[in-house]
Amino acid sequence: MQFSTKVIHVGQEPEKITGAIIPPIYMTSTYVQETPGKDRGYDYTRAGNPNFSNLEHALSALEEGKYATVFSSGLGAITALLSSLKIGDKVVGTNDIYGGTHRLFDQVFKPFGLHFELIDTQNLLEAEKILKKEPKFIFLESPTNPQLKISNIKEISKLAHKYGVLVVVDNTFASPYFQNPLLLGADIVLHSTTKYISGHSDIIGGAVITNSESLKGKMDFARKAMGINPSPFDVWLISRGIKTLAIRMQRHGENALKIAQYFENNSMVKKVYYPGLPSHHNYEIAKQQMRGFSGMVSVEFDLDLEQIKKVISSFQVFSLAESLGGVESLVDHPASMTHASIPKEKRLENGLTDELVRFSVGIEDIEDLIGDLKQGLSKA
Ligand SMILES: Cc1ncc(COP(=O)(O)O)c(C=O)c1O
Repeated sequence: MQFSTKVIHVGQEPEKITGAIIPPIYMTSTYVQETPGKDRGYDYTRAGNPNFSNLEHALSALEEGKYATVFSSGLGAITALLSSLKIGDKVVGTNDIYGGTHRLFDQVFKPFGLHFELIDTQNLLEAEKILKKEPKFIFLESPTNPQLKISNIKEISKLAHKYGVLVVVDNTFASPYFQNPLLLGADIVLHSTTKYISGHSDIIGGAVITNSESLKGKMDFARKAMGINPSPFDVWLISRGIKTLAIRMQRHGENALKIAQYFENNSMVKKVYYPGLPSHHNYEIAKQQMRGFSGMVSVEFDLDLEQIKKVISSFQVFSLAESLGGVESLVDHPASMTHASIPKEKRLENGLTDELVRFSVGIEDIEDLIGDLKQGLSKA
């Protein structure tokens, strides 16, 4: 079955009793048992719910994996993964990551005794040096948030497996429409389903997808034991959003490329970050491992901070807001918004400057989007 058919049908079978074309929302906390301990597959919604099973079925099919577990948020999914480690274990990762992931590493799990080392995983020599220290996981974002850095997932997976390290890829930015890390050798795929997967900026959710039965068991256990389950209603909305994932992603990608090209020819822009531009330093690797380049574009403006703030507050179609991946276009200033929890020196050391602005390009008409950028930039 092709991707555009899978998004509409997998995990979305009509309900058996009435024939309802859309599976109902199972808003229930508990399930009646016939005799003590004898249930019909579900005993309590923190542990499982038919809507969770439907979405897990869809996500594992879209990511070409065997198993999925859904969580209350993307950070809930990362929490579940990290909770499977023990005091003293090491995790290495990409040095350009979502600020909330950085905060979870540094301010929650580090005090619990896990060790984190973040490096430039685009550099395979540097990656191998660190993999030799035998961390439990190498945690990649590719493309990264917000600098759209691309790591070579296939080569890193080969190296990691040589040293017995599991490869985790946060695939939130690409979505399974454009990239399937498990097919490139990764062991675990992670999503903030808040973003492209659901696509309408109306829920918070997360998921882990894998081919490992034992890891699936650990993820289900973590959800139940720590209470990081989503609501059946939110999960139902995510399943509904998935139905249009293919056409949304196609349009996000087309619009983002045109916007990246527009910025490349704009004198107020110093640098454009978009893996679909031949000027991107890892364009060739992106082309090999992605089927398209998604809807995120970042730029470094050649303007001072006050001018930047004025410009991004003046847009009328791009809303100034955190998050990404919805049908509506958003603009974000990472240094003061999504990545503000990363200490400034660390942020600058990794190339995340105050002049960097991130655009989540929506699926509106491209003329309106470019018109809005021109209008906003005229305020500088
Ligand atoms: C790449 C990436 N991963 C994970 C997360 C966390 O997801 P959530 O906000 O659903 O907890 C985000 C949130 O912005 C993100 O951008």
